[in-house]
Amino acid sequence: MIETDLEKRISAAAVRLFGKEAAQEARIQKTNNSLFGDYQSNFAMSSARALKRNPREIASALTDELSKEKCFEKVEVAGPGFINMTLKKEYLEEQVYDGIAPAKEISHKGAVIIDYSSPNIAKPMHVGHLRSTVIGDSLKRIFQFLGYQVIADSHLGDWGTQFGKLIVAYRRWLDPEAYKKNPVEELEKIYIRFEQESEKDPGLPEAARKELVKLQNHDPDNLALWEEFVQISLEEYSRLYQELDIHFDTMYGESHYHPLMPDIIRELKEKQVARESEGALVVFFEEEENLHPCIIQKKDGAFLYATSELACIAFRARQYEVNRMVYVTDARQESHFKQVFKIAMRLGWDFELVHVTFGLMGLKDGHFSTRKGNVIKLKDLISEAVTRARQVVDEKNPDLNDTDKKEVARVVGIGAVKYADLSQNRTSNVIFDWDKMLSFEGNTAPYLQYTYARIQSLRRKAEESGLLLPEGNVLDIVNETERTLAISLLQFPYSVHKAAEAYRPNIVAEQLFDIAQKYNTFYNSLPVLKEDEPTALSRLQLSVKTAEVLKVGLRLLGIKTVERM
Ligand code: ARG
Repeated sequence: MIETDLEKRISAAAVRLFGKEAAQEARIQKTNNSLFGDYQSNFAMSSARALKRNPREIASALTDELSKEKCFEKVEVAGPGFINMTLKKEYLEEQVYDGIAPAKEISHKGAVIIDYSSPNIAKPMHVGHLRSTVIGDSLKRIFQFLGYQVIADSHLGDWGTQFGKLIVAYRRWLDPEAYKKNPVEELEKIYIRFEQESEKDPGLPEAARKELVKLQNHDPDNLALWEEFVQISLEEYSRLYQELDIHFDTMYGESHYHPLMPDIIRELKEKQVARESEGALVVFFEEEENLHPCIIQKKDGAFLYATSELACIAFRARQYEVNRMVYVTDARQESHFKQVFKIAMRLGWDFELVHVTFGLMGLKDGHFSTRKGNVIKLKDLISEAVTRARQVVDEKNPDLNDTDKKEVARVVGIGAVKYADLSQNRTSNVIFDWDKMLSFEGNTAPYLQYTYARIQSLRRKAEESGLLLPEGNVLDIVNETERTLAISLLQFPYSVHKAAEAYRPNIVAEQLFDIAQKYNTFYNSLPVLKEDEPTALSRLQLSVKTAEVLKVGLRLLGIKTVERM
């Protein structure tokens, strides 16, 4: 990664000049304006105190020292002590040619567990789960790319009061025909009916409670029904995950942690983290922690969400060599995770626990609900995206054959949905606007995919006209448009690091958008195939490198590319 390379050079130069005291991390940044060179460092200011010198003096000595290095065209002092660096053409070409892979961090001890998607059994996944699924998947890809070992877990909601209700509803109202055709939908229907009828008939909730107790005591009939619900729900989720190209290593549900809860209760009591209060077991927080007391076990012996969460952490810690656990859910679960993380800390459990939150999602024209007031299902959203993408493809590229059109519509439709989510700052609310997200212009998946396909088409044309890229570096970056593109390409690995640090895939999306824009400016203003061979080859290679970055980058967002569209 170019940033690390330059930072090392600055630190080394500083140590040569000022000795060991200067051995501190140098931070560099890309400049916003090429008038100030390509990169800038504030090392002179940040080390001034330690070196007991004035920043300008440090900067000017460093500038002289760094000017000797072959990688710089120019090194200058600016303002109170900034060091501005302009890269030498050859160094830039070399970096673009082989500097695109991120420097893998070597010392990742232990795995990062990412807990995302996590739908609730017997309910269809709706768009609310989309964000968790898509953001979690992208984080998984980003961390893997950086060399971390990642465990992807969908923490299914497969235990709790809804099962008592479902069992009652199933026995009373299930329509076997409808159930056969669309099991999860039918389960949802009878669940809603249960809620409606309960308002009139107080006997129903009571009956549900009884069935739940029977289930928890492993009554064989109820257990068999529960297993059936889990099974059919998992089949539906798996189809969706497959369609979205999303893969989990484990899908333990909350039920998996149920047998582990008594141990947690014991540990909480022994370490005096929880105490008895009005018959329940509760953890209280300090006033400045500003958290409600967390109930671990109710008076009637029932465990709660937080209890199973703690058991889950303990299980993971025992099962894997863990370094970090990351939870991706909407912001409404913020206090739940704050409570749980605090309790884990008090128990002396030593991992990094991170809650990655996101905002709500709505449609441009109205809510995410159908006329009947139901929430739109993820399945329907995806098929609508693919249908709409197909219309766009028919219009843009009528000559494509039908098989290709189908494939392009899927890749573009699903890509557009994912990108509309991932390109935004995750904490903001997302507004789905079909026309905007499927547009070939602007910050959209189709724009990036189209830029990629355009380069592939250029590549095919080059081949047809006999222009073949030889092995090795033929880059000859001579004009400003090429240079701007090259510099943007070099930002890519760093953007992946930043995205991982902040758990924000939109940082990668922004970089890809910048690259695509710069590429299109390059493509529209500079001929490639019409030029003499050395220039044509250099521009072709720059194009191919751009396509490589776009493809890798889009994959980090879980988005595919196609060779023509
Ligand atoms: N099933 C929960 C829901 O749909 C999300 C679970 C998130 N993961 C966790 N470990 N709590 O709201």
